[in-house]
Amino acid sequence: MTMRSIALDTLPDDRVYKILCSLVIPRPIALVSSLNAEGVVNAAPFSFFNVFSEAPPLVVLGLQHKPDHSAKDTTRNIQASGEFVVNLVDEALAEAMNVCATDFPADMSELDAAGLTTAASTRIAPPRIAEAPAALECRREVALSFGPQRELLIGRVLHVHVREAVMNERFDVDIEAYRPVGRLYGNLYTRQRDVFAMVRPTFKDPRNG
Ligand SMILES: Cc1cc2nc3c(=O)[nH]c(=O)nc-3n(C[C@H](O)[C@H](O)[C@H](O)COP(=O)(O)O)c2cc1C
Repeated sequence: MTMRSIALDTLPDDRVYKILCSLVIPRPIALVSSLNAEGVVNAAPFSFFNVFSEAPPLVVLGLQHKPDHSAKDTTRNIQASGEFVVNLVDEALAEAMNVCATDFPADMSELDAAGLTTAASTRIAPPRIAEAPAALECRREVALSFGPQRELLIGRVLHVHVREAVMNERFDVDIEAYRPVGRLYGNLYTRQRDVFAMVRPTFKDPRNG
């Protein structure tokens, strides 16, 4: 098989973005709700997102700055308050999530434009999005700056809200009830409908008979 060989350091940033983001797919989407000093609830999607560990329970978010190098509202709010909610995105929430990616001014709540409502969080001030199938209340653990354009935010998950139909009391997830949406690249997304199982093998040492 002939392989394409690409040296990233010869390419402009937008090509590197295209290559990495179209190969590392699908990525989960965090619809992040945060609060500004005036009490306006901000919501924006981030697909440079994943869970990192369970002890401690950490999530990571890649926050890009605006072309003029100023911080996005989400970044500014988390810098100021250290608190945010990761709302997970299902098929029913996908279109509203996309509306939340609009570059509204800071004093306008994306939630109103997207027709979404909030529910109070348990441990932090920013509310969760009531329509989300699951929500992670997070506190900033550390933020690393990578030049004028990028910040890597690591957040500690303090509290989880999940629909009972999505997760039972043994914490098993019903993927049919959950219907999460993943991001592919550009304007493309994916449903998680084609699921298959594999049992993980364990090594049996032939020397032990
Ligand atoms: C599916 C999706 C994923 C996105 N992922 C990111 C991301 O990982 N990092 C980022 O900085 N912007 C990402 N964006 C763009 C932000 O959502 C967008 O800039 C938004 O307007 C920021 O809002 P804010 O200024 O209210 O924080 C994404 C947009 C979409 C639609």
